Amino acid sequence: MPVNILAIESSCDETSAAIVRDGRHVLSNIVYSQVKLHEVYGGVVPEVASRKHVEVIIQIIDMAVSKAEPIILSGCSPSENNELITDTIAYSQSNNSGESLPRAIGAVGAIDAMGAVDAMGAVDAMGAVDANDAVDANNAMGAIGAKGAIDAMGAIDAIAVTYGPGLAGSLLVGLSAAKGLALSMKKPLIGINHIEGHICAAFLEYPELAPPFTALVASGGHSHIYYVPDYCKFELLGRTRDDAAGEVFDKIARAGGLGYPGGPKLSAQAAAGNPEAFSFPRVRFGDGSYDFSFSGPKTAAVNQLTKLNNQFQGKAPEDVMANFFASFQAAVVDILTENTIKAAYAKKTGKIVVSGGVASNSLLREKLKIAGVANNIEVYFPSPSLCTDNAAMIASAAYYRYCKNQFSGLDLNAVPDLALTC
Ligand code: KG4
Ligand code: ZN
Repeated sequence: MPVNILAIESSCDETSAAIVRDGRHVLSNIVYSQVKLHEVYGGVVPEVASRKHVEVIIQIIDMAVSKAEPIILSGCSPSENNELITDTIAYSQSNNSGESLPRAIGAVGAIDAMGAVDAMGAVDAMGAVDANDAVDANNAMGAIGAKGAIDAMGAIDAIAVTYGPGLAGSLLVGLSAAKGLALSMKKPLIGINHIEGHICAAFLEYPELAPPFTALVASGGHSHIYYVPDYCKFELLGRTRDDAAGEVFDKIARAGGLGYPGGPKLSAQAAAGNPEAFSFPRVRFGDGSYDFSFSGPKTAAVNQLTKLNNQFQGKAPEDVMANFFASFQAAVVDILTENTIKAAYAKKTGKIVVSGGVASNSLLREKLKIAGVANNIEVYFPSPSLCTDNAAMIASAAYYRYCKNQFSGLDLNAVPDLALTC
């Protein structure tokens, strides 16, 4: 019997829900991106993010169920092209109100019945769900008679949710929704570490990929190298000792006037620049460690920017700025590549999985591919839409926990600084 997992991800500024079959086939993956909402502040504002999650999460779950419903009810095989299954909805002034998001009629009853979830909100850290609410939710579903949606929900085997690391208020919204669904639909709950989700994103696009492998997770909050000997097993090989790679991309982009989100904007500017125009440090620890340090190159870049601002009265020509961004990007990418290849070589896995938002970076993809070929290591990158935060990767990770009967209790709490260990 196929295993369908409904997953929810809300750890930062993306509200996402997905249904994935057998950990590999995406039936739906709806991602509501709040990037435009936070752009004006130059970064993610946690309070604004959690409020927006509360506003849209029910509809995003609703959309994920509706999108998957025809496949679930027909018993057809899902599409092979998982990246195309991702639907990204960008925040804009016109859909500022959650009310104006498209609503899926079939599934709406079942999800609306989860009104109790809204009421629980993000405030109760324990996320304790009142059993009476769940009974009400079931009754309401029956009364509405949204047959298709209920059948589709009936075919869901477990509810998965990111419970850390991430922003506390944001995590709690997804957790509350997931717990409400699990309780009212009588489905097991599976709490997933966000970093584990990023690693499992690769399973969605490479059917032949299986552990053991080495994984690099580079995002706004993490720069970690893991050895993955088996499903659900993770051994930390290296990590940043200060800033994360995405974090420094965001900071230097902002300092250079590109705004938020910095990584993709910096990368676009860097494309036209000379990566050797400026020299930024590559930090290597002499103790054989695979750790990273990005605060050195960040400080050097800020100092260089000050010099350029003085030299050009704050208006450095475009080609000079392109050179600046290209040189900074090269410094970060060189070290990410070098340490990951070294770690994979030492572990003799012959396979590297690269994921997290920074894995969308085209220079990193190119450099790792070249270094992989030179070292006889296969490098696996999920498509960009599966590298950045999405719920399909959480569902994939949950499938392997499901297979090992690793379920969570309804007292599962958000853990903002959750570490990924065996
Ligand atoms: O995984 P993700 O969506 O969220 C976190 O878990 O943090 O990663 C977001 C990070 C941001 O720092 C963003 O600037 C960076 O990934 N990023 C990039 C690129 N696309 C996203 N960094 C460099 N180049 C890119 N193309
Ligand atoms: Zn992430």
